[in-house]
Amino acid sequence: MKSILIVGGAGYVGTVLTSHLLKQGYSVKVLDNFIYENQFAVQPYIGDPNFTFFYGDLRNQKDLEEASKGVTDVVLLAGLVGDPITKKYPQASEEINDEGITDCIHYFNGKGLDKLIFVSTCSNYGLIKDNELADENFELNPLSLYAKAKVGAEQTLLSLKGESDFTGVVLRFATAFGVSPRMRFDLSVSEFTKDIFQGEELLVYDEHTWRPYCHVRDFARLIELVLEADKDKVNFEVFNAGGDVNNFTKKMIVDEILKFVPDGKVKYGQNGSDPRNYKVSFNKVKERLGFEPSFTVSDGIKELVDALKAGFYSDAKSEKEKYGNYKLALAEGKDDK
Ligand SMILES: NC(=O)c1ccc[n+]([C@@H]2O[C@H](COP(=O)([O-])OP(=O)(O)OC[C@H]3O[C@@H](n4cnc5c(N)ncnc54)[C@H](O)[C@@H]3O)[C@@H](O)[C@H]2O)c1
Repeated sequence: MKSILIVGGAGYVGTVLTSHLLKQGYSVKVLDNFIYENQFAVQPYIGDPNFTFFYGDLRNQKDLEEASKGVTDVVLLAGLVGDPITKKYPQASEEINDEGITDCIHYFNGKGLDKLIFVSTCSNYGLIKDNELADENFELNPLSLYAKAKVGAEQTLLSLKGESDFTGVVLRFATAFGVSPRMRFDLSVSEFTKDIFQGEELLVYDEHTWRPYCHVRDFARLIELVLEADKDKVNFEVFNAGGDVNNFTKKMIVDEILKFVPDGKVKYGQNGSDPRNYKVSFNKVKERLGFEPSFTVSDGIKELVDALKAGFYSDAKSEKEKYGNYKLALAEGKDDK
């Protein structure tokens, strides 16, 4: 059985991936530096004989060496994730998302890995016309530090084609939704659902802008599909990760939430600070890997509304920083202004 190292495995996606791979019988190792003091998120896995946690930083080669002993494949999830956190901490962002990830990709070359999966983002498409659909060959237009670093890292990995002993794969994730041990309420579907459920008046900017969404558990399943795929299907390929069914405008998300919370209060505004608008084609991942999401945006909203009704996340207001990428833990927060 494969032994998978998840770099950044204590995060929102990583904890769900850990859980999924353990259930499927994989051996899972996680390297993470708890940059948001998110230690609590890996607690459920401690004690599982197939799980090993390494506290460490992807910028440190000794940590990479220690954590990757005996692993067959690596999934790279770690980084400062999102436009706001990279804007707030540009220095840490450059050190981790640019230099750190680049060095990390090079570090793993020559180590006998089967696959190295780099998780990127559909944010790389930036702003496209309403009648266009971005496939993997669509021109990239990264608008933020976050997306610019992802485009750079993709290029670093793809430039190793023919030069590496591993099979490199890039997955451009849609925006995630769904419940995770490391819950994030700084992602649209979950943020809107929580705010509306808690009776706040939600202000939504640019409600007609499109984005693709995907459930975290579907991402976990897709990563497993890639780990198990024949090399020639995925070798140095880029895949948009998600499904056409979950291309949504913000207004469409709100309308779905209001079906579950009919008395919710919502206001709309124009010219918000986030101009991203992109509708994405997920044809390649469907054709080549047979991947289609099993959860719709509506399923994710229902799942979260049920969790909120049951009293989960009752501390989401008082402990806001626990539930998103807002503030780096002190040791990393050198450039916190
Ligand atoms: N969540 C989304 O909607 C979304 C959308 C598109 C792409 N992605 C990509 O998926 C991946 C995971 O996203 P997420 O939502 O789980 O993010 P997250 O912020 O919840 O998790 C990131 C994890 O990386 C760790 N980390 C950060 N810097 C590190 C370092 N230097 N060394 C070791 N660990 C470090 C953090 O402690 C955290 O546990 C990211 O690569 C992200 O760009 C996510």
